[in-house]
Amino acid sequence: MIRSSVVVSAPAKINLCLGVGGARDDGFHALATVYQAIGLYDQVTVRPADGWSLSVTGHERIQVEQVPADESNIAVRAALLLAAHHGIDPDVAIAIDKGIPVAGGMAGGSADGAATLLACDTLWGLRTPRGELLELAGELGSDVPFALLGGTAIGTGRGEVVTPAMTRGEYWWVVLEADVGLSTPAVYREFDAMHGPRAVPDPVIPDALMEALRRGDVEALGEALCNDLQPAALRLRPELQRALEHGLEETAFGALISGSGPSCLFLCEGRAHAVQVASALSGHQLGPVSFAPGPVPGARVVG
Ligand code: C5P
Repeated sequence: MIRSSVVVSAPAKINLCLGVGGARDDGFHALATVYQAIGLYDQVTVRPADGWSLSVTGHERIQVEQVPADESNIAVRAALLLAAHHGIDPDVAIAIDKGIPVAGGMAGGSADGAATLLACDTLWGLRTPRGELLELAGELGSDVPFALLGGTAIGTGRGEVVTPAMTRGEYWWVVLEADVGLSTPAVYREFDAMHGPRAVPDPVIPDALMEALRRGDVEALGEALCNDLQPAALRLRPELQRALEHGLEETAFGALISGSGPSCLFLCEGRAHAVQVASALSGHQLGPVSFAPGPVPGARVVG
């Protein structure tokens, strides 16, 4: 069947723990992380066209103007990579509608890359095997395979090697966005500068965190949340420390910076608790506040 359009929705990711090792020879850092996909989404619509094009819109709180609209955009790179992989022309009009903060440490770009891979694969009737799609995703960026997979997963390598993890229950997250994003490479550079020439230990995933997820124990999970990039992100944005403290004072079970930041995450017991913490944090006027459950599925065709 020739389709006139395909719509794919892809979720934001958070890192429940982000263990970071030393820089590798290729410049990337060895990671040991637990990803969770949460219910904030970007939507990508693709249509047949002559050549490729890209348009970007977004929710009113999203700074759409910060998203590149040329071939450096990861969605365009995804379409070109998939077309080249199959030896076909990348004839597609791509429209991204963003609900995930830009440069917020929640892998919004990676969601767009994963969504476009899946959308073009469906539009062009390619039926690329899942393993191949995951490999192409890994070429696009370290977080892109997880955006395809979704749920909760362990990430190793530079983050691109993903394995689904056993979890129980649903977790609710309050997300505090910042008005200005942080560059991921800049945060990694700060991490390197903070460690200096000292060897960085191999990253590990705390047993307590996996155990909390297996039991569905929100309180234990809140205590086990950790992020090795947090000190570097806080050096670049010291004011976020106060935001994290406010969340804990407002009864969140845990607070941490999402990935390379600057979005902050607050773990809550359920939806009602998330609404309460979100409205209390809104009162501090630190930035846009939203809330979302996790885990949710990865990129999927919705239209
Ligand atoms: O893979 P991705 O394109 O998301 O990475 C963006 C940047 O983040 C890289 O260019 C690198 O500076 C940094 N990074 C890293 N180690 C990782 C993942 C990302 O140093 N494991």
